[in-house]
Amino acid sequence: MCSHQSLTQQAHDAIVCCLQPGDWALDATAGNGRDTLFLARQVGPSGHVWAFDVQSEALKVTEQRLRGAGCAETVSLIQASHDRMLEYLPAATLGQIKAIQFNLGYRPGGDKRLITRPQTTLPALTAACRLLHPEGLLSLLVYRGHPGGMEEYQAILAWLDGAGLGIKQINICAQQAPVLFLLRHSSPH
Ligand SMILES: C[S@@+](CC[C@H](N)C(=O)[O-])C[C@H]1O[C@@H](n2cnc3c(N)ncnc32)[C@H](O)[C@@H]1O
Repeated sequence: MCSHQSLTQQAHDAIVCCLQPGDWALDATAGNGRDTLFLARQVGPSGHVWAFDVQSEALKVTEQRLRGAGCAETVSLIQASHDRMLEYLPAATLGQIKAIQFNLGYRPGGDKRLITRPQTTLPALTAACRLLHPEGLLSLLVYRGHPGGMEEYQAILAWLDGAGLGIKQINICAQQAPVLFLLRHSSPH
């Protein structure tokens, strides 16, 4: 599918359909906190969001954004690589997270050399699949235009090939543009 709409908006539109007040959600790449805030608003004060980033600056910006919106209590901010998510989330969250977002690449406005990398992205995706609810949605936004981006995209394609997931792929109509994957557990036959 080829689209002209913002992929971030399309990811949010897809998540709205499966994330209710009281649910649990995960942001694997907090960055500037826009996705974290979106998830926090969706689950409301009775739900919870876990948000990871390796950069303290990213978590600081995200925390300020959440505080400004009165959502800070809904979110656990974790400064660690997302491939370690199973160490940080309670065991009760296995198979219970309704929405998971990965927004790869570098933090807009931050250091462009600090990018996500397949060595940690792929194990993180595998861990995220263990946390994802049977009816949940994993949104994976992949940027291909920066150094290292195309390699990460290729590695993700190979990973998706063996992941046994239901996959919807949305492309922007331009070379090297980002790609959005919407992933679900395949339904049993
Ligand atoms: C494109 S930004 C995320 C944008 C963010 N979701 C938002 O709404 O603003 C990508 C983020 O991934 C973070 N990142 C890079 N490697 C990571 C890793 N191994 N684990 C967790 N976060 C990582 C970067 O520090 C950066 O902040």
